[in-house]
Amino acid sequence: MITIKVLVVGSGGREHAICWALKKSPKVTELYCAPGNGGIAELAVCVDVKATDLDGMVAWAKDNAMDFVMVAPDDPLAMGMVDAMEAAGIRAFGPRACAAIVEGSKAFSKELMKKYGIPTAAYEIFTDKDAALRYVEAQGAPIVVKCDGLALGKGVVVAQTVEEAKEAVVNMMENKAFGEAGAKVVIEECMTGPEVTVLAFTDGKTIVPMPSSQDHKRAFDGDQGPNTGGMGAISPCPNYTSEHADLCMKHIFQPTVDALNAEGRTFRGVIYFGMMLTPNGPKVVEYNARFGDPECQAVLSLLETDLMDILEACVDGTLDQVDVRFRIAASCCLVLASGGYPVAYEKGKEITGLDQVTDAVVFHAGTKLQEGKFFTNGGRVLGVTAVAPTLRDAVDKAYAAAKPISFEKMHFRKDIGYHILDAQ
Ligand code: AMP
Ligand code: GLY
Repeated sequence: MITIKVLVVGSGGREHAICWALKKSPKVTELYCAPGNGGIAELAVCVDVKATDLDGMVAWAKDNAMDFVMVAPDDPLAMGMVDAMEAAGIRAFGPRACAAIVEGSKAFSKELMKKYGIPTAAYEIFTDKDAALRYVEAQGAPIVVKCDGLALGKGVVVAQTVEEAKEAVVNMMENKAFGEAGAKVVIEECMTGPEVTVLAFTDGKTIVPMPSSQDHKRAFDGDQGPNTGGMGAISPCPNYTSEHADLCMKHIFQPTVDALNAEGRTFRGVIYFGMMLTPNGPKVVEYNARFGDPECQAVLSLLETDLMDILEACVDGTLDQVDVRFRIAASCCLVLASGGYPVAYEKGKEITGLDQVTDAVVFHAGTKLQEGKFFTNGGRVLGVTAVAPTLRDAVDKAYAAAKPISFEKMHFRKDIGYHILDAQ
């Protein structure tokens, strides 16, 4: 039996779910997570190295003879952590920096899609503010204005009026509201239709989509309030049919992998397809170069195959030889957040009731374990994740499981999954 020492990089609910899935693998004999969190500490040895400390992470992995490193968050991927691990002779999962650019630059992704005929909203790219303003005038509203670079999910304005769009352009390009991320903007056609996410494993040739999912990005019920990292996710997404899946495989998933290969930017890892199911078929809204959070918690809860086998196959180029299977069931991850998130919130509140949770897995995001007690340590605190034969049962189960949990100023949405069920 081959045994593997694995390091997972990151500290959120996503990384907890990855550790939870890897822990089930008989091959994984030692599991480490840097920097990890309170919940992860129960499954893995937490290592005090920041996820963005490239040199520190490589040095630690070398000194401690890691066989395999799983880089989960976007920042270290964009910075080239996988490249750095490989240079040090360590097998690492995730795209190299040259491929992770699909997330780091919207302009790059749009050009790639245009060049290879991958369906996405029509667009133009601008580095000149006046030209951008003229384009907005000519196109009219609704219209979408996006910063080129990473802006913590805030660099997108879906403008309902020309005035609003012009204000967004000025804000990004002149007022530098998002720093250099807004030096270049993408202005695109406003699409309509339900949004769906598909995460897929790829070794650079073969692509294996996971069950579809849907995040809930706004802070409050009814998709109101500011954008967050994600307040809850369901999987699969009922709007996404097998016809959609076939269309996406043919026109989006495989063409994206092939396009990146053709550009000399072979993508190995998890690629995130954020899509809109428009009246003219599925179109790409965005790519990410990693598992989404909390989509990961919902989707990995359904995985039957050994995750370690899949990760290794992605790195080794043998994904076509792995039988990747998911339970035919539904899941719901309900995020419990600190009151005030994503704007201003307090940390250090004691979390109670975790030991009374039944029939669900609680993935920790912003928590800290101190003398046997858990305390809040971030905006998104916990992700209560339940699996059931139907989506309605999974959602009900996640809400029921969350009942005993409490901490001061705890906030969660009451409509995760429900609005989509009610719309059916
Ligand atoms: P992004 O950061 O590119 O995923 O955009 C954030 C959100 O803005 C998406 O999840 C959509 O809800 C919305 N959005 C982005 N692009 C468009 C578009 N072209 N048409 C309509 N809505 C969009
Ligand atoms: N939940 C959205 C993301 O991880 O990008």
